[in-house]
Amino acid sequence: MSTHDLPHRPRRLRTSPVMRNMVAETSVAPSDLILPVFVRENATENTPISSMPGVVQHTLDSLVDVSKQARDAGVAGVMLFGVPETRDAQGSGSIDPDGILNVGLRAVRDAVGDDLLVMGDLCLDEFTDHGHCGVLDAQGRVDNDATLDIYAQMAVAQAQAGAHVLGPSGMMDGQIGVIRAALDLSGHDDVAVMAYSAKYASAAYGPFREAVQSSLQGDRATYQQDPRNRTESLREAMLDEEQGADMLMVKPALPYLDVLSDVAQAATVPVAAYQVSGEMAMIEAAAANGWIDRERMIRETLTSIKRAGASIVLTYYALEFARGL
Ligand code: PBG
Repeated sequence: MSTHDLPHRPRRLRTSPVMRNMVAETSVAPSDLILPVFVRENATENTPISSMPGVVQHTLDSLVDVSKQARDAGVAGVMLFGVPETRDAQGSGSIDPDGILNVGLRAVRDAVGDDLLVMGDLCLDEFTDHGHCGVLDAQGRVDNDATLDIYAQMAVAQAQAGAHVLGPSGMMDGQIGVIRAALDLSGHDDVAVMAYSAKYASAAYGPFREAVQSSLQGDRATYQQDPRNRTESLREAMLDEEQGADMLMVKPALPYLDVLSDVAQAATVPVAAYQVSGEMAMIEAAAANGWIDRERMIRETLTSIKRAGASIVLTYYALEFARGL
């Protein structure tokens, strides 16, 4: 019974599930999602990652298997990360065609063809013994331009292995242009680049270090972005577009939805966001304590990331979500 004269009653559009579904502005589909996956060199069984419940370091066979499952569930793609057996100062396993990441890319591409997008993380941190995303100069600083030369070789190796999309995540200046040129000069003009444009120096990558077993000497503050900055992300995004990026990415996702919204409004290419390992770990830890409803939280976070402007989401929940949670 209305006792007040209210011409506007927003609650009318919330009266029933069909009404709410009809007026919903945002949706998350399996085809929006990319599943990050880890493949471990010479592994004979999967190794669980304790800080990322349900996520494992795959064997090659298991990597192929999970990729087929992702394809069958309608997931858009898989983003591969390699866990090499040995590391060195130059990260040489990254450019070796027999290095684990390139071997993994080849195996997945052979199995799925063009029915699933096969993506490679293009960064040195999994392959260097010091854990940095680039090589170091004589003073121990990350050497931007020397790293670019290795990224160019890495790009060609990943393209030759069959990657459809490369994800440069090292935050070196000029990396997109150098990678684009290397791809084009080697006949791989059809390989797309998803640039990690706005990648912040975040505490939320903690569990990922366990996942790739990398121990970092120092921190990444000289190349990843300072969490205090917002406008800088637009600069990074525009530079990547100018250099030929096909897609841009913001990372992490949830603490940076303002940045994601800015970048999505400014970009003329599709924008992705990465719900990183620590974002997942927070959900899992709270859910394990019974403090939050795990599935609602997964749905809500993925929806929020899309609502903020991402058209693509990288999430460890991709397969589970695509199967209907
Ligand atoms: C770099 C890379 C990292 C992540 C994706 N690519 C680690 C880092 O920059 O420190 C983190 C992803 C996650 O935390 O889920 N190769």
